[in-house]
This record gives sequence, C-alpha cells and structure tokens, in this order.
Amino acid sequence: MSADACAVPVSSRYSRRVVEERDAHAELLADFRAGMLEPPRSLPPKYFYDARGSQLFDAICDTPEYYPTRLEAELLERHADAIVEASGARTLFELGSGTSRKTEYLLAALERRVAAPHYVANDVCGEILDEAGERLLQRFDQLRVDSLCGDYAAALGHLGEVAGARGDGPRLFAFLGSSLGNFEDPEAAALLTRIRATMNAEDRLLLGLDRVKPRPVLEAAYNDAAGVTAAFNLNLLSVLNTELGADFDPEGFDHRAPFVQEYSRIEMHLVARRDQVVQVSEPEARLEIAAGEIIRTEISRKFSREAVDGLLAAAGLEHEAEWSAPEAWYSLFLLRPGAA
Ligand code: AVJ
Repeated sequence: MSADACAVPVSSRYSRRVVEERDAHAELLADFRAGMLEPPRSLPPKYFYDARGSQLFDAICDTPEYYPTRLEAELLERHADAIVEASGARTLFELGSGTSRKTEYLLAALERRVAAPHYVANDVCGEILDEAGERLLQRFDQLRVDSLCGDYAAALGHLGEVAGARGDGPRLFAFLGSSLGNFEDPEAAALLTRIRATMNAEDRLLLGLDRVKPRPVLEAAYNDAAGVTAAFNLNLLSVLNTELGADFDPEGFDHRAPFVQEYSRIEMHLVARRDQVVQVSEPEARLEIAAGEIIRTEISRKFSREAVDGLLAAAGLEHEAEWSAPEAWYSLFLLRPGAA
C-alpha cells in the first residue's frame, strides 16, 4: 500500500519496483465485497500493513509477550552460517520481509560466504522496503538490494526480473515470521506450491513456523498489556476508512484474540461494542453491525508436526534440515523442491 509515497534511496545498489498481478485497490474491493457485506464478516490480513500498520507490527515484535520474533531471531543468530552453508546460496529472496531486521543475520552469513551477495526483498509496504534497503546498504557494503513491492504472488511472478547479471546462482528463499500461519490449509498449500514451482532444483526454502504451545503463552502474545496488538487490529478500520471511504468508528470495536483449539490457531477479532451503521462509498454499501458481532481480521496458525508435514507433502517440498527453539516452540525448516 502507498507504494509510491516515498522517495527511493539513491544508490546503484538499490532498486524498488511495484509488482502487482491484479490492481491492489480492485483486490481490496473484491475482498471487501466477499467478506464484509454480511455476517460472518472477515478480511484477509494483508490489509493491516499500510505504513502505520507496518510500524505497529514492528512495535508488536518488541512487546515482551510476542515471543515468535525473538525465538526466530535467536535461531537465526545462532544458525545463520549453517543455514546459508547448507543452502549453498548466493542470493536471498524473502517474502514478506518487513523491516528485514532478523534477516540481517542471514545477510551477514551470506556476505561471509560470497563476494557479491544479492538480496531480493518483498513486502506490501513500500515505505518499509525503502527504509530497510537504506539501512542494509549502509551495513553491507557489497550487498545489492532489489525490492519488490506487492503481495507474495506478485513477487514470485516478478522474481526473474531482478536476477543478477551473471544469474543469481543457488537462491535461498525465505518465508519467515510464521506468516504462512495466516492461511488455511488450501491457500497455504497453494502458496507453497507456487513457491516450489518458482524454485530451481538447487534453490532452498527457509520456512519459519510458530508451533503449538500452552494456551496462556499464545493468548498473551496477541493480547499484550500495552495494547499494541489492539491498536494494530483496530488500524485495519482506518485503512478501510481511507481506501474505501468508509466511516468505521474504531471506538465502536474491541480487540479480541482467542486461541481456537479446534483449528489450532489464534483468531484476531474486532467485536462490535454496540449496534452501529457503517457507510461505505466504494463499494457503495451500508453495513448494519449488531452489538457483539465479530469481524475476523486474521488467523494465525500454530503448527503441529503433522500439520507441517501434511502441507509440505501437498506442496512437493522435502525436509533438508531444521532448527528448533527449546520444546519446539518455534521452528525453522530448510526445504528443497521434491522430484517433480
Ligand atoms: C506476521 C502474520 C506472523 O500472525 O503472529 C502479530 C501478525 N498479528 N500479532 C502473526 C500478528 C497480531 C503475525 N504474522
């Protein structure tokens, strides 16, 4: 979102292009029509991430309760050299890269291994890509960074356009932060299949997934005491107000994030505090929302071993190596494309 709002850093080592398979605004309209016109209401979580939403997510990662970022960062810090070594990569391509803060461990390892490392970053937020790019160029003086601003499918479709002059050699694809957990099985399998189809035989995928653990730990992570996750959730209404000319009153909703055992996932909800009418200008609509009604804004799956293996089998990906936090609270899986 706001892909063009910000100046691109001036460097021969940086580029950013906007990649879209379908017009992003048209996609929001379609998702809004499909999910919001009547109960049960829901929206895909990618619309959280305007500039403010991306900042709020970054702030979530710094809350004491949100353990996934810290566990993943610790794994990357400790094992980055082994991961990059095992992948044989010269290029790192990351889906949903955000601030790329954790990625710096991988980039440092890559820089230790190859002379002219290449990083292809992808996010729906252009501002955060440019900020990250600028920071990375300062830290890594041999690194080239190309940013693809758009959703996962668009980035995968345009990856070939930013290949290095001598080709990109073996590539390490990274899909971190348990972002795959945003998708139910069919969509998750479809996305992994698409990733697999984009990989060459020598490429590898590093997949970071949050795992099942005691409910109080899970629920605290999505209900932080400072209210950052609540602000992040409610910011979605501001996005809708801006993008669709709606008049949602954020004060009219409460944040809630229960762990739903049956599906092994956190669900993020906005719960209406009172009966309310919301006017939307594009698409023209009038939503009558009853007190207690829920808008489901995100699912965040917590993966069992069986769930992981089922998805990988469905997508034709095979285990090469893995690194897990104590008690398997978080895991990094290094995967290779299976024989087609
Ligand atoms: C970035 C999608 C992995 O599901 O944990 C954090 C987003 N939502 N707190 C997650 C999120 C609420 C996060 N992902």
